[in-house]
Amino acid sequence: MSHAFEAIKISEHVYWVGAIDWELRNFHGYLTKRGTTYNAFLVLADEVTLIDSVKPAFLGEMLARVASVVDPAQISNIISNHAEMDHSGSLPELIARYRPNRVIASPMGAKALAAHFHWDVDVETVKTGDTLDLGGARFGFVEARMLHWPDSMFAYLEGDGVLFSNDAFGMHLATSERFTDQVEETLWRREASKYYANILLHFSPLVKRLLAQLPSLGLDIRVIAPDHGPIWRKDPMQIVEQYSTWAQQRPTRKVVVIYDTMWRSTAVMAQAVGEGLAAGGAEVRLLPLAGTHRSDVLTELLDAGGLVVGSPTMNNQIYPTVADVMTYIKGLKPQNLVGASFGSYGWSGEAVKLLDAQLQEMKVDLVAPGLRVSYVPSPESLASCRDLGRKVAAKLPKQLQA
Ligand code: FEO
Repeated sequence: MSHAFEAIKISEHVYWVGAIDWELRNFHGYLTKRGTTYNAFLVLADEVTLIDSVKPAFLGEMLARVASVVDPAQISNIISNHAEMDHSGSLPELIARYRPNRVIASPMGAKALAAHFHWDVDVETVKTGDTLDLGGARFGFVEARMLHWPDSMFAYLEGDGVLFSNDAFGMHLATSERFTDQVEETLWRREASKYYANILLHFSPLVKRLLAQLPSLGLDIRVIAPDHGPIWRKDPMQIVEQYSTWAQQRPTRKVVVIYDTMWRSTAVMAQAVGEGLAAGGAEVRLLPLAGTHRSDVLTELLDAGGLVVGSPTMNNQIYPTVADVMTYIKGLKPQNLVGASFGSYGWSGEAVKLLDAQLQEMKVDLVAPGLRVSYVPSPESLASCRDLGRKVAAKLPKQLQA
């Protein structure tokens, strides 16, 4: 019997049986320009174990992939590493259809699943350091609290050396290739960094703590199988090391300038600030918010040393597109930034003051009070913008850091 959807073998006992979502462009506010995958994995031993599932709309695809290697009715165990619906959404239907012997999750996972599905499923809980033999397949478990939900968990298959890391080490990238080493490096680097910046950045202290704990668990990790995007089989620890680097948020000489504009005045100011930054030796990223998605702003900020924000005053407030991105940045808590604000106004000019207050709350080291210009910038006020850029550049670290 042939199937349109096939399982892909990733190690001696493990098959990828997930789904490819080529069409997704908005993942709760994250611009997924290249779609995503929902990865689920099947472990074939004396018993069959399924790790995570897919969004309900993709259950048919997942089951077709399962059926290409084993009758889905043989699924005896389900490990649920994370309760977010892109991985758990198919569980009620799967459990109703196939009545697995065991459903396993972290203690927080069991609670979160109950709060999602209001079900009477008896979920068995496991903690960090616990091991379970599931029909000849021996698993270890690592709770990964707040990476990125309280319930998040990693499962590790002994023998095959596969770490099922759930969202961690993943990326939103729909591809026909299943392994990172088959994907162009610039592409996977961009998407992996975007994923970290938008999903994990604010949990960087916890990332550091978990990565410090990993060696003591003595896992021989030969494959890292995340729940989104391609699987790491060639030098899998490179993504762990990359996470360690991102979690440190060491500042560089890159400065992100975000702005929007009503009648071009704040845009012209942004260009002058950018010239001053460049003259001071900074690497400048000028991002007009009319054409830059908030999730791409965060990706640029991941390895920046400065953030400069420009906004006109509109109805006594920060311009709405700028306010949107500032709220988003604040939640993701980038660290170790210097910065400033600027903007044009007509008669009240509150935006720059409001921006300065927000930047201070975000612990951005302001080099000067925000620069306001009435209506249209004069040559003198543009010189002040260039000077503001130079001041920011002067506070950046002296050497580019890797
Ligand atoms: Fe991919 Fe937190 O869900």
